[in-house]
Amino acid sequence: MTPSDTSPHAARYPAGGLAFPHRDLLGIGQLERHEILFLLDEAEQWVALNRQSAKHVDALAGLTIINAFFENSTRTLLSFEIAGKRLGADVVNMHAAQSSVKKGETLIDTAITLNAMRADAIVIRHWSSGATGLIADKVDCPVLNAGDGQHEHPTQGLLDALALRNALRERGESAEDFTGLNIVICGDILHSRVARSNLLCLQALGASVRLCAPPALMPVGIEAMGAEVFHDFDAALDGADVVMMLRLQTERMSGQFIPSAREYHHLYGLTKARLEKAKKDTLVMHPGPMNRGVEIDSEVADMIDRSIITRQVEMGVAIRMACLDVLTRRARGVDGWEEAA
Ligand code: NCD
Repeated sequence: MTPSDTSPHAARYPAGGLAFPHRDLLGIGQLERHEILFLLDEAEQWVALNRQSAKHVDALAGLTIINAFFENSTRTLLSFEIAGKRLGADVVNMHAAQSSVKKGETLIDTAITLNAMRADAIVIRHWSSGATGLIADKVDCPVLNAGDGQHEHPTQGLLDALALRNALRERGESAEDFTGLNIVICGDILHSRVARSNLLCLQALGASVRLCAPPALMPVGIEAMGAEVFHDFDAALDGADVVMMLRLQTERMSGQFIPSAREYHHLYGLTKARLEKAKKDTLVMHPGPMNRGVEIDSEVADMIDRSIITRQVEMGVAIRMACLDVLTRRARGVDGWEEAA
């Protein structure tokens, strides 16, 4: 059995090398709806594997994966590392703080260096929007965007969709897609690659997305992407099925965007009282890292029946396994995934 046999969406792919038409995963914006569903379906087998005590397969044995991180990360870096190792690959991490980047090496030269080491996949996080695309142009292997500036964070969008789908299925809903769901994303939308990737992913899966932020933290013209824009959090929460909270990305702010953390919490913090204004079973999400007491209160973040924040982390490993597996299939010569003529 090839892993793709487990996906009900796999049948939509013609055999003979066109199974997943992308070499790289640079953004949700490049994916069709059925490709998103295919990756979610693929991830299910890894969710199951990760819940066993023996969590290792040798699908990627012999392959070298380089995680090149030019920005801090806990969840994303660790989960990419764990994902690669559980699939049997050799995984090495390059931290920019300890690399020649500090000696003035350009991004392109770093890319050429990683390529010369014959990596089989490169995972990149970079502070500059578009940097991962630039690197993808210079290397011969799949490149996975682990967050580029304010642009995209595709594996976060995918893992959030998987976490939500699993939570809904556990409640007995079929959740084939998210049609009919009202999903609120609240916080620093302006600086958030998570907001952008989630907006694209959730909409592709049929959800109605409401974006909520103070005017200074809302990108101008974002309505053009099909989202409903709110500045009043209580109004945004009315009838919401899901609320996803985002951190204030202070490291990307030049100048003062909010009067104070206290005032921000008063207007945009998710408190228990505020959550009660949504539906009685509204699910709570957060990509992490959380600033408890600023955008979200502890009593909400830790609500056992409503918060799926730790499930998001769990699904992060499975999604990254799916992406690494799928994107390396051509190079591994997996049946039906030969290079297109
Ligand atoms: C996010 C990121 O780095 O964009 N974190 C993550 O990957 N889980 C969100 C954030 O930093 O606020």
